[in-house]
Amino acid sequence: MSEEAVFELTAVSYAYHGRIVALDGVDLTVRAGETLVVLGPNGSGKSTLLKVLDGLYRPTSGRFLAFGRDVTAAADDPELGYWLHRRVGLVFQEPDVQLFSPTVFDDVAFGPLQLGWPPEQVRASVTRVLAELRLAHLADRAPYELSGGEKKRVALATVLVMEPEVVLLDEPTANLDPRSRAELIDLLAALQARGRTLVIATHELDLAALLATRVVVFGEREHRPIAEGAPEEILADQDLLRRANLVHEHPHRHGPIVHSHPHWHDAEHQHEHD
Ligand SMILES: Nc1ncnc2c1ncn2[C@@H]1O[C@H](COP(=O)(O)OP(=O)(O)OP(=O)(O)O)[C@@H](O)[C@H]1O
Ligand SMILES: [Mg+2]
Repeated sequence: MSEEAVFELTAVSYAYHGRIVALDGVDLTVRAGETLVVLGPNGSGKSTLLKVLDGLYRPTSGRFLAFGRDVTAAADDPELGYWLHRRVGLVFQEPDVQLFSPTVFDDVAFGPLQLGWPPEQVRASVTRVLAELRLAHLADRAPYELSGGEKKRVALATVLVMEPEVVLLDEPTANLDPRSRAELIDLLAALQARGRTLVIATHELDLAALLATRVVVFGEREHRPIAEGAPEEILADQDLLRRANLVHEHPHRHGPIVHSHPHWHDAEHQHEHD
């Protein structure tokens, strides 16, 4: 294994209830400092992959190394799980899973308190991260009193407050309004610049265009990567994107005419018409 590998998966499979295949023979390496964007349509296995990387799901078969250590059993081994969770944080697709305290402040403080940080440091870090995410005014709210997008940002805060080396993000921009989305992308770019390793699961191609240093594409039926490469390469491969159900017939209006043709909106929002 190369020294800088953060994660190394060899022939990793995962099936729910022993029969619903979600990952099927995944070989994947994530290197320190990269931003890997995992593209794939609904049901291709992105969320399951992130839960394996976070040590929440034990692979049904295959081998999973993190920072050079075999952590295949992390889901069943509290010591190993704890070791992994000090270095890796997952922002879930559904923020409700992540929020369970009486207030937003308590939810963000929960992880650092679990890690045994001194109370003063916890307070200072929670206050800082809430300000960074424009959440300070919601500190005393109950999580169920938040909108979907606010919950998503609080869930992100619960992970970022611990400053993990590796941040796993599942559909981070889902439910965000344009300003929150732009701010989140800026924040992820800042984490990148600070040398953090990011793994982002999404079906939004423009996130890959903006942030990825490398892209893997999960196949709809394969449940493993069907392509891997630089974002410019992958995003230029229309055949691949169509096969992977990542571009679709999309209704457009041109003056009085509304019609459909496949495209995606890139960072500059340009596409061809005939
Ligand atoms: N809790 C579960 N129980 C049973 N099957 C599940 C469960 N969660 C996911 N699956 C199945 O596992 C497969 C992979 O699901 P996963 O959630 O990893 O996909 P995804 O790529 O994250 O999809 P999405 O884009 O919709 O979030 C799908 O076939 C899905 O139906
Ligand atoms: Mg998912």
